[in-house]
Amino acid sequence: RKPWGIGVAGLGTVGAGLLQFLGENPAFAPAGGLAYVSGVSARSRSRPRPVDISNIPWFDDPVALAQADATEIFVELIGGSDGPAKAAVEAALRAGKPVVTANKALIAEHGAELAALAEENDAPLLFEAAVMGGVPAVKVVREALVGDDIHSIAGILNGTCNYILTEMEATGRSFEEVLAEAQRLGYAEADPTMDVGGFDAAHKITILAALAFGCAPNFAAAEIEGIDQVALLDIRMAKDLGYRIKLVASAERSPHGALVRVHPTLAPLDHPLARAGGALNALFIEGERTGRLFLQGPGAGAAPTAAAVAADISDVIAGARRPVFQAPAEDLTPFDPVD
Ligand code: HSE
Repeated sequence: RKPWGIGVAGLGTVGAGLLQFLGENPAFAPAGGLAYVSGVSARSRSRPRPVDISNIPWFDDPVALAQADATEIFVELIGGSDGPAKAAVEAALRAGKPVVTANKALIAEHGAELAALAEENDAPLLFEAAVMGGVPAVKVVREALVGDDIHSIAGILNGTCNYILTEMEATGRSFEEVLAEAQRLGYAEADPTMDVGGFDAAHKITILAALAFGCAPNFAAAEIEGIDQVALLDIRMAKDLGYRIKLVASAERSPHGALVRVHPTLAPLDHPLARAGGALNALFIEGERTGRLFLQGPGAGAAPTAAAVAADISDVIAGARRPVFQAPAEDLTPFDPVD
């Protein structure tokens, strides 16, 4: 079995989950190979973590980790659309190294530019873990449905918001209290405004829209409203009327472009989206030939998200090659929202 050196930048919830997974399952990839962590980088070396990193080569600078000879696959789990995450991903791609990232902000805001860099350097750029955590939504939209024309996608793409709305309704606890719990459970972003403001769901639906419609990710065109204005009273009144409030992200194809939006939505209590509680994510995909598909599963958390990163590492080991988005980067045309 060929050993594959995996350089992991970012050791938060998902990074620690990935180290744990690779430590226990180095031979997980069906195509063979042996994945071992060849180096790590994070903001703090000494912060308490559920995994021991004392025997793994340490890099203060994620760019140096991306460029290190021992890094054969670079995994970016730092987060944030700019700064060290972007610099390190660019450095890895320029060095022709495969990149696996869970960074939805980075792909939604700079996906076209990074796709071009990946293609120029003949390096795979994979981001299954960026959307719906452990649910293979990227693979379904990009690969499994390549023979279909997708008309629309809609669903719940942020586990933190879904958890907050579910728990507020079930227990009557305050928004702040449940958010703090979602942070403790490892669901929330480092900056939870990204979750509750709807931006995280908007990053994810932007990525899915680009994959589904064969265009560049155009985050600037997304219409975004979060759940920060949803009060317990709204949730109770909705329920009395037979509805549940859910943060729904949707993208629709139209002759004028794609309408990409995120907003709190009233779902009838027996609707599958209303029944997806806790930190679950759920997604409807409507295609010309396949009709309607429904995916549901864990959208956040260490183990499911690390499993999605592992699936991308497995694809790299198997030598799977495909354009980053459906069309080569130079042919991608951003859609703008319909007025
Ligand atoms: N903060 C994100 C969520 C994590 O709550 O869905 C997974 O992307």
